[in-house]
Amino acid sequence: MTQDQLKEAVARAAIAHVVPDAIVGVGTGSTANFFIDALAEMKDRIPGAVASSEATKKRLEGHGIRVFDLNEVSEIPVYVDGADEVNARLHMIKGGGGALTREKIVAAVASKFVCIADASKKVEVMGRFPLPVEVIPMAREHVARQLLRLGGQPKLREGFTTDNGNVILDVHGLAIVEPEELEAAINQIVGVVTNGLFAIRGADVLLLGAADGVKTFTRV
Ligand code: 5RP
Repeated sequence: MTQDQLKEAVARAAIAHVVPDAIVGVGTGSTANFFIDALAEMKDRIPGAVASSEATKKRLEGHGIRVFDLNEVSEIPVYVDGADEVNARLHMIKGGGGALTREKIVAAVASKFVCIADASKKVEVMGRFPLPVEVIPMAREHVARQLLRLGGQPKLREGFTTDNGNVILDVHGLAIVEPEELEAAINQIVGVVTNGLFAIRGADVLLLGAADGVKTFTRV
């Protein structure tokens, strides 16, 4: 199976987690796009969705799925999103697509986070994938210096602006053995909007696509 076929398989499996008659939170990226396409087939059974990015909003609306502003919504039973890396404790690195802040906000409101990923995303120790950090533009060099002190090699994502008007520093060279601590430490740097570690609030369910089928892992 190709990587896209694995992504489509987990995206389709995630439909079983969508709660009828309730709003669903929707992530960003190629795996989330497969989920949006599958969601379109059951759109009459949900009032709509909350989107984690402008790109996701556009794709949802393209399928005729109503998109709610998060401020209109007090409960989201399920949030479905991909990941760049995920470990055995269902901590994740996210933000390869640059939508990490809105993803983290929607995930914070959701009762359940369902991560959908192909098997290449499962790792023992996170950090091979550069950790995205969203930064207020005027704080870029200050934050970069602090990230160096934490042991990383920050690189500006050239030519990229987030949906929130900020920049991304991708931090290379980290071996993340204490994800919750690192997530909290980076968020303490003045000028950081958020970072792509989703460890303090990780996934509750991981649907992992492999050649022999979709495997389900639950956070312990
Ligand atoms: C976007 C994300 C994505 O979930 C992550 O980058 C995975 O993307 P893909 O499904 O395309 O592999 O965090 O900000």
